[in-house]
Amino acid sequence: MKFDVIEPGIWPELIYPAYKSTVARGPQQPNLRIEAPVPVTQNIVTTPRLLLPNDTDLTKHGQGEPLGEKIVVTGRVLDEDGKPVRNSLVEVWQANSAGRYWHKKDQHAAPLDPNFYGVGKMLTDDEGRYRFVTIKPGPYPWGNHDKAWRPAHIHFSLFGNVYAQRLVTQMYFPSDPLFDYDPIFQSVPDEAARRRLISRFSMEETVGGEMLGYEFDIVLRGRDATPMGL
Ligand SMILES: [Fe+2]
Repeated sequence: MKFDVIEPGIWPELIYPAYKSTVARGPQQPNLRIEAPVPVTQNIVTTPRLLLPNDTDLTKHGQGEPLGEKIVVTGRVLDEDGKPVRNSLVEVWQANSAGRYWHKKDQHAAPLDPNFYGVGKMLTDDEGRYRFVTIKPGPYPWGNHDKAWRPAHIHFSLFGNVYAQRLVTQMYFPSDPLFDYDPIFQSVPDEAARRRLISRFSMEETVGGEMLGYEFDIVLRGRDATPMGL
């Protein structure tokens, strides 16, 4: 990914003081060109063998059904011309319905769900489409400032054909009241670009009485690029 194919304002500010940790980790010096420690052209072998049977159904990882609202999330990965990006390894991770991650660093006062770990992965198909079933994540506090709560979100990582081609973003849900208060969401300067992080409710993707559907297309670059680096 070259930065010059991203219009200004689409990717988040690397140093955004309201998002406190960016002040310590954001680059203070101009970029340096360095030799990559491993060949950046090393291929990812994105065969279906990478995938386990329930990687696309995060509600099937325990002995029983997880708590919360079961949903399906689907969308297409597209390039700047709207062409499908096939065979991209898409990984997702998220909090459970109570807003708790299955991770030792998340010890906040919300329960773990023994039937929900919050990780999944899949490959895009010939149309660039991915699809997974999960539980709608809850918002969670993150200590950035008083009453700092993240809007509900799902983290996405996308790999291209080589390990050097990795992009990371976050998907949000429509009409979340926390958008205006979240410095991570707000660190994307362009308002239209911020809206591209928000999934669309989809009656078409809704599955009967089982689960509501959400659509989230991911555009890798160009004027309509999805913000990355969140
Ligand atoms: Fe998160």
